[in-house]
Amino acid sequence: MFSVNLKGKVALVTGAGRGIGKAIAQGLADSGAAVAVNDIDAPSATLTAGILAGDANPYVADVRDSAAVEKMVDKVVADFGRLDIVVNNAGVEPRASIFEMSDADWHNAIDTNLNAAFYTSRSAGRIMRVRGEGVIINIASIAGHNIPIALRSGYVASKAGLIGLTRECAREFAAYGIRVNAVCPGVIETEMTTHLRQNEAQIKKWLEDIPQGRLGIPEDVVGLVLFLSSDASRYLTGQSINVDGGKVML
Ligand SMILES: NC(=O)c1ccc[n+]([C@@H]2O[C@H](COP(=O)([O-])OP(=O)(O)OC[C@H]3O[C@@H](n4cnc5c(N)ncnc54)[C@H](O)[C@@H]3O)[C@@H](O)[C@H]2O)c1
Repeated sequence: MFSVNLKGKVALVTGAGRGIGKAIAQGLADSGAAVAVNDIDAPSATLTAGILAGDANPYVADVRDSAAVEKMVDKVVADFGRLDIVVNNAGVEPRASIFEMSDADWHNAIDTNLNAAFYTSRSAGRIMRVRGEGVIINIASIAGHNIPIALRSGYVASKAGLIGLTRECAREFAAYGIRVNAVCPGVIETEMTTHLRQNEAQIKKWLEDIPQGRLGIPEDVVGLVLFLSSDASRYLTGQSINVDGGKVML
């Protein structure tokens, strides 16, 4: 596994109770960072924090709530003394035709996948700019680039917005030494994609379009996040990079 040294750094990972966020939290902890494990689900946040190497605390908060995010970021800094890395990973994927989609499902996608990243970037950015350094990584999706997916309008719109927010934050925060990038996974085997993986015809079609011939696993996303978290990527900001076995080639 690719390794970086993040000793002395403090990272906050949202939605880290399971799936990709949990693997990212593990990768950051194994690299020496202290990790603040956020999730809306208290038991899974506690469970993830409990298995990490080194310092780790659970932070139960709904990232759709801007006041809760601000409070959480302040608490992380109070607990660990600093904040170096934020990974905006929490996400939801409501599925419905546009004709049938409820306001609640639409807003849930935009609030969780896009607005939450704005809240954390604003709160963490204010703290990072004082020290003149920091890293923000947004877990977007190839769906935010140019891969429309049936029945996922809220998801695709939110991820496209997240890539836009990544660029705007990168442009504005660069003057303060803060780098902002997006990671865009393809289909990764997590609870979010259980329904897709149960549909044999659909999965066969996806696999035909993936040159590497397999779906991803959460650990496939971790190496890029570690690289973007470290000084090895110090001249890289405002980018959105696919991790998808070659499905999308820009
Ligand atoms: N799995 C994939 O194929 C795939 C592909 C591209 C992008 N992504 C993105 O990666 C991220 C992680 O996806 P995953 O597959 O691990 O999903 P998952 O559903 O397995 O995990 C998502 C986690 O986010 C948490 N969460 C949801 N809403 C929250 C909220 N309001 N506040 C705090 N935590 C909340 C959940 O409790 C859960 O622990 C998401 O942003 C997703 O859109 C996933």
